[in-house]
Amino acid sequence: MTTFDPSIPSTTESGAPRESDAHSLSVGADGPLMLHDVALVEKLARFDRERIPERSPHAKGSGAFGELEVTEDVSQYTKAKLFQKGAKTPLLLRFSTVAGELGSPDTWRDVRGFALKFYTEDGNFDIVGNNTPIFFLRDPMKFPDFIHSQKRTPDSGLRDANMQWDFWTLSPESAHQVSYLMGDRGLPKTWRHMNGYSSHTYMWVNEDGEKFFVKYHFLTEQGMEFLSNEEATELAGTDAEYHRRDLFEAIRRGEFPAWRVEVQVMPYEEAKAYRFNPFDLTKTWSKKDYPRIPVGRFVLNQNPVNHFAQIEQAAFSPSNTVPGTGVSPDKMLLARVFSYPDAQRNRLGTNFNQLPVNRPVVATNSYGKEGSMEFSHSGDAPVYAPNSFGRAYQDTQGPVDNGWEADGALVRAAYTLHAEDDDFGQAHTLVREVMGEDERARLVQTVVGSLGGVVEPVLSRVFEYWKNIDQETGENIEKAYRAQA
Ligand code: HEM
Repeated sequence: MTTFDPSIPSTTESGAPRESDAHSLSVGADGPLMLHDVALVEKLARFDRERIPERSPHAKGSGAFGELEVTEDVSQYTKAKLFQKGAKTPLLLRFSTVAGELGSPDTWRDVRGFALKFYTEDGNFDIVGNNTPIFFLRDPMKFPDFIHSQKRTPDSGLRDANMQWDFWTLSPESAHQVSYLMGDRGLPKTWRHMNGYSSHTYMWVNEDGEKFFVKYHFLTEQGMEFLSNEEATELAGTDAEYHRRDLFEAIRRGEFPAWRVEVQVMPYEEAKAYRFNPFDLTKTWSKKDYPRIPVGRFVLNQNPVNHFAQIEQAAFSPSNTVPGTGVSPDKMLLARVFSYPDAQRNRLGTNFNQLPVNRPVVATNSYGKEGSMEFSHSGDAPVYAPNSFGRAYQDTQGPVDNGWEADGALVRAAYTLHAEDDDFGQAHTLVREVMGEDERARLVQTVVGSLGGVVEPVLSRVFEYWKNIDQETGENIEKAYRAQA
């Protein structure tokens, strides 16, 4: 196998010595160039193809490698090997913003992505979360529309507050997440100073086959810190890569950021009667009902050596589960399980799982074959299952251990309502009880500042939306807006 060796003189991609990295081949020193100048043609052709499509959402980001160490015994809830006490598992964590493109500033107000890939002995296990425990939506049918409303208008190519508030106020289930976004968490000081969450409910299964629903929390040991609107705006102009730089330089200095891993665990049987629908991604589970249970901690201690190969080409997906874990009936999660590998086949190519950053650390025996850029393959082993010629295959039948029961007619509908389900209740608790007076005052300013270009009927709906979340806050937003208008 060929390897890169920076000490040898440069070569063509097929390995022959290059004649020159500086001079094209011409007819005389001033003459026309030659088509057969492989050194020039190969260089330009490769340059023409350097860019790959950016991620559709979450385009701008960066990350680092590290290790998870499990310090507590949670084997009563899961048999997953990576979560057994004492286990140490290598991981990759990529942080990102949601709406901005590849070159956008790190400090624009946005939700931040928090995508983890654990390289386990049972294959890759990914938790692709955010820095908030909930999301804007509860039905995946709306996700592309949501992202369209956060990106750019079709005519001017500009971002547009009117379009964002139009979508949010017509989708009141967004209220909880929008309250987080307009609060301090919308501007984390650095990626090191924010928590991560699975946001979704996932499943754990123990050795006895008992099932639990679980939410993951990754709590920063650096403490939560935030930027003010003014600081963020200034940094967006003076150092668009502020967060990327901070992480890289901290790790290079040997200051390794760490997060505690905790979980909320709900016994399987309690899900049906819980006061909030536990699979509705716009809701949290009360920590009074389901206190956080410590699992371990992880640290980031290794920078990428090649951003493109190890971060840009990284492919995270909630579909990457391992025995002892699973998904839940959360509709958003079930759709994401399809969407990520599909996006990655498009963005990186059919064989994206064979790239070193995505490759599992264990052997694979998949009957998937060929496609663009196949690198690992099954040699001359049978290419079909079942077969009589020695290649192993699976033939399990019956209930899966990480499944659930479901019945009913086919419908298009929101979730079955649980006792305390509504769109504004938890948003109200966040704004009124979790945020202090100072943060609420900052939130009012932030919302007012975000209303430039918002026109009727959207504007009136914005005031209504906030009054539904918290009457006084809504009134303050309207008053402050009208005072400056
Ligand atoms: C139905 C809902 C959703 C759909 C269809 C969706 C789809 C996508 C797609 C297509 C990508 C780009 C993947 C790639 O090219 O590698 C992406 C990236 C991402 N999404 Fe989602 N998403 C959804 C909801 C969410 C939610 C609820 C969260 C957080 C809880 C989330 C967190 C992320 C993160 C962190 C990334 C960046 C991953 C990375 O660093 O490579 N998404 N999403």
